[in-house]
Amino acid sequence: MDASLSSQSVPGFFITFEGGEGSGKTTQIERLAGWLREEGRDVVTTREPGGSPGADALRYVILSGAAEAFGEEVEAILFAAARADHVAQLIRPALKAGRIVISDRFHDSTRVYQGLGSDMDTELLDCLERAALSGVYPDLTIVLDLPAADGLRRAAARRGKALPDRFEKEDVAVHESRRRGFLGIAEMESDRCVVVDARQPVNAVADEIARIVEDRLSAHRLERVGHSLGAAVQGAGGA
Ligand code: TMP
Repeated sequence: MDASLSSQSVPGFFITFEGGEGSGKTTQIERLAGWLREEGRDVVTTREPGGSPGADALRYVILSGAAEAFGEEVEAILFAAARADHVAQLIRPALKAGRIVISDRFHDSTRVYQGLGSDMDTELLDCLERAALSGVYPDLTIVLDLPAADGLRRAAARRGKALPDRFEKEDVAVHESRRRGFLGIAEMESDRCVVVDARQPVNAVADEIARIVEDRLSAHRLERVGHSLGAAVQGAGGA
């Protein structure tokens, strides 16, 4: 298996957005990508489940509820299969090419949606995660936090007359436990994750995210410079 691709090992930078239904991820990703492009950055935006032709086909199978009858293990395997293809076809090549990749959901969504409140073997989930990511971990994860009831109201307004998908239709208490799940991951992996209060006005959320990303990109640049200098010094020492 490849070594981790995040941080100094590749020139690109990988950002994921996580959070409950209706937390504003799509809007904020558009805002962030727009701002970064104005700054002259090469940005690719994507989403899960999906992001590659193979993964988009699986998205339909999963979100329509067609796979629900096969049980939660099969659903988790389908999410992992979709993610493996997404990483191989889009994310890894883009990072290697030095691009900034922004994904609407990634592995934390599986940890929360498939992992919480299920009887599934955590070893199976860990194993699927390692296989699907194959070393490609996010450099930064923005967790948009919102009370579940507010998020579900926003999602229903956005959906209009369309039916809720396989996961949206679940009870508000389930969504609230997912919210706690994302916050728990953010606390445990505080180097990677930053929680942003999504109850703020859209512009305030966008400004906060831009500041966070700017700081992290500067730190990433410095780490890479340090990494290259270290390699050059080592090379000179060995010559
Ligand atoms: P969205 O495109 O509206 O975010 O819908 C994706 C749905 O799929 C959302 O309800 C969360 C769910 N999901 C999982 O259950 N596990 C996962 O790994 C991912 C990426 C999404």
